[in-house]
Amino acid sequence: MNNINSRRAALSLLAMVIDQGVMITSAKKENIESYRLCNAKEKRAAVRLSMDCLRNYQPSQMLLKSYLTKMPPQPLLRIIIIGVIELCVNKAAAHGVVNDSVKLAHELKRGPSFSGLVNAVLRKISRDGINVWSGIRPQSLPIWIGRPLKQQHGKIIQKKIEAVHSKIPPIDLTFKAGGEKNEEKLPNGSLRVWKGAIAKYPGYEEGQWWVQDAAASIPVKLLGNLRGKSVLDLCAAPGGKTMQLLDAGANVTALDISRNRMKILKENLERVNLDANLVTTDIFSYKVGEEYDIVLLDAPCSATGTIRRHPDLPFLKGQEELDILVTLQKKMLGRAREFVKPGGHILYCTCSLLYDEGEYQIEDFLLNNSDIYPVKIDYVSVGLSKECESLNKSIRTRPDFWSEYGGMDGFFISHLRKKDLLANKN
Ligand SMILES: C[S@@+](CC[C@H](N)C(=O)[O-])C[C@H]1O[C@@H](n2cnc3c(N)ncnc32)[C@H](O)[C@@H]1O
Repeated sequence: MNNINSRRAALSLLAMVIDQGVMITSAKKENIESYRLCNAKEKRAAVRLSMDCLRNYQPSQMLLKSYLTKMPPQPLLRIIIIGVIELCVNKAAAHGVVNDSVKLAHELKRGPSFSGLVNAVLRKISRDGINVWSGIRPQSLPIWIGRPLKQQHGKIIQKKIEAVHSKIPPIDLTFKAGGEKNEEKLPNGSLRVWKGAIAKYPGYEEGQWWVQDAAASIPVKLLGNLRGKSVLDLCAAPGGKTMQLLDAGANVTALDISRNRMKILKENLERVNLDANLVTTDIFSYKVGEEYDIVLLDAPCSATGTIRRHPDLPFLKGQEELDILVTLQKKMLGRAREFVKPGGHILYCTCSLLYDEGEYQIEDFLLNNSDIYPVKIDYVSVGLSKECESLNKSIRTRPDFWSEYGGMDGFFISHLRKKDLLANKN
């Protein structure tokens, strides 16, 4: 339930994202007074509300075109947008939304002269805007994501993905082997919970499960029997896949450049009572004496497959950042190849919607490395259908998959193998 404190803080968080290009997770750590003064519950509500607004920013502006002859200045417009989201998406009681919005307007320098407008518009929307809202199309992706997505899958699928992005995503839990409860699971074995229900699931302190989107759990599940295998988990933090590898019995070296993220990985491993060899370093500085059976490269990427969880992302990133990531991923794939044994496996994945960070990356890698070949993926074993098949035997999940369960993150997965040239000679 939102109150004026959470609404005020949501307004500040929105300004941080839209005006200053700061991620919500980082904005929370900034010294924003309106956020700092909230209690824990109000803070959570403020984050939720700002995310709801970011998911529906464009549709809110569309709706307002029918109610305003001229858009008011920022941040008054954002006060109204927060009100629209509260009324049309969260179905909050009109009088609380209108009163708080008018009070927030009064707190602004030029606000008092607009408070009548805020009051009138939100009252009208509370009467008939909710019906109009249901006819407005979901928010479009920015061009650097939307255009390639349309080229890859066509307009209909692009629109389906955009529709999923407007919805609040569920939370998926991956259970340690033997830690599962007798409950209905998703086809890949994850347990899906909705808002608030996560607290009901016992076993967190005991380390029986961790939060991981169903799609993110798929790459490791495709590796088959891992008992006794040596695995180099490049780009490992915060460790969702490291925990899966360890739980499946692999001997894991988990490497990541980020000290902070490695600290979280270490805490995660302690909680689930699993142990890996931890290395905090740059993949390009890592020197190894041995080669590994399996190298997992969950490369840094645009994270466009996770927009349902991170609706701030389309407001922050752009083509320039994508180009830098694509260059880095290419270099990382080359590095991963050096670490794998002849006959060993490379599992490359990204939580991106874009072929540039998936299919095209692998296409280029295969062209330049004749000793590497793609392996067919048994996607049926993780509950996926033929629709996930992509170039060079790779697979791709999309947010509009598993719509009957509430969707999934977008993920690209390619399973590659290094030829064992000596074995061929014998
Ligand atoms: C997609 S995340 C990894 C998620 C992780 N595999 C999991 O399942 O929880 C990518 C990671 O790459 C790391 N990274 C980025 N550049 C790196 C580099 N040059 N060397 C090593 N790690 C790097 C980031 O710190 C980040 O933790």
